[in-house]
Amino acid sequence: MRCPGLPEGFDATDPDLLHARVPHPEFARLRQTAPVWWCAQPPGVTGFADEGYWAVTRHADVKYVSTHPELFSSNANTAVIRFNEHISRDQIEVQKLIMLNMDPPEHSRVRQIVQRGFTPRAIRGLESALRSRARAIVTEAKAAAAAAGGAGGAGGGTNGTPGGIPGGTFDFVTRVAVELPLQAIAELIGVPQEDRARIFDWSNKMVAYDDPEYAITEEIGAEAAMELIGYAMNLAADRKKCPAGDIVSQLVAAEGQGNLSSDEFGFFVLLLAVAGNETTRNAISHGMHAFLTHPEQWELYKRERPATAAEEIVRWATPVTAFQRTATQDTELGGQLIRQGDRVGIFYSSANNDPEVFDRPELFDITRDPNPHLGFGGGGPHFCLGKSLAVKEIDLIFEALADELPGLTLAGEPRRLRASWLNGIKELQVRAG
Ligand code: HEM
Repeated sequence: MRCPGLPEGFDATDPDLLHARVPHPEFARLRQTAPVWWCAQPPGVTGFADEGYWAVTRHADVKYVSTHPELFSSNANTAVIRFNEHISRDQIEVQKLIMLNMDPPEHSRVRQIVQRGFTPRAIRGLESALRSRARAIVTEAKAAAAAAGGAGGAGGGTNGTPGGIPGGTFDFVTRVAVELPLQAIAELIGVPQEDRARIFDWSNKMVAYDDPEYAITEEIGAEAAMELIGYAMNLAADRKKCPAGDIVSQLVAAEGQGNLSSDEFGFFVLLLAVAGNETTRNAISHGMHAFLTHPEQWELYKRERPATAAEEIVRWATPVTAFQRTATQDTELGGQLIRQGDRVGIFYSSANNDPEVFDRPELFDITRDPNPHLGFGGGGPHFCLGKSLAVKEIDLIFEALADELPGLTLAGEPRRLRASWLNGIKELQVRAG
């Protein structure tokens, strides 16, 4: 079905398209003329057997799909709309061991256990360590920038790309944005300091496989995932033997209804390493870019630090552009008949710019309130478990930046990540000022 005004073959999960931009004009067209639209996909591009999905672009419909798991399954085809074409059916089946891809009642059981680690109290418990880490990350970037001009810069970031610092400029992504989300996950699950570099390496290998620049093949990504799962399982087994009063010990203490098995813990850590890493990193990178391209908002932030800023950064960035569900029965949505088994793509990036809900959505406004964005999901059972942690990380890193590097300016256009469901920036050169 062709949508008038959209180019032939338009697909908002096309990595080549997302490499260049988020298709906001096309989303606007779809919201107006075909809010539930069948997007045909050429055979063999997605890892799935069928050849298309319903693209859902209005805020109200994205919420509806998210909050009706009985009609829209996360498990039948997993939450990712377009896997790399090389993924096998077996690999897709393995993905279903991750809670993001589970349905109730299995999902409810796991969620009830793991949310113990994400209570307001647990997040408050991490705050002071994360504040120091945020401060250290920014002061290191500052020191390196001050030493700039020094031949060769100060070395790379944790994702293996160079973070060199010629002439006072540095790559904000590798120097700053990458660091705190990884350190927060390590802190959360109590990874010993000496093992952190390994966790960071595995995490980074798992997220960038759609981007040829990183030269991460499907095999390297899968191997990193297996190594990370193995590591987490060992950590769980250790804590089961010798509980340490940390979150891992709580989640695995004694196997049974109320706890995770070591395997389940392994897959949970795998999910955290993807869900909590690349997402928050991109919120921070887009947030910095937004501030530097809207200097009046940066000035306002430095002056007033509004508590609403982090939510607007997430709305503006919408790091997860879309996830999918699969219809469990014939159902109607937006005037379309969705057949049982059809895949349904829910486009958070479009919902977050829906003028039915947001006044002047094209404005970056850190005082926006209310801000009912769907960047963390549409409010159903899978709503982002790490939301409070992510918001805390964003607050802490921008507080540190405003204090330590208030004069930052842009030193180049951002280089975008090639990916099918992430709005990613892989390089953002800034000048310390
Ligand atoms: C789920 C976004 C940070 C852990 C999700 C979902 C989205 C999302 C869109 C799916 C919601 C749905 O299907 O309804 C984000 C964004 C983040 C972020 C934009 C940063 C700005 C984090 C962090 C963690 C985390 C820091 C943990 C360290 C999870 C988990 C799930 C999830 C475990 C799966 C929940 C479930 O299936 O029940 N996130 N997330 N996320 N997120 Fe986040």
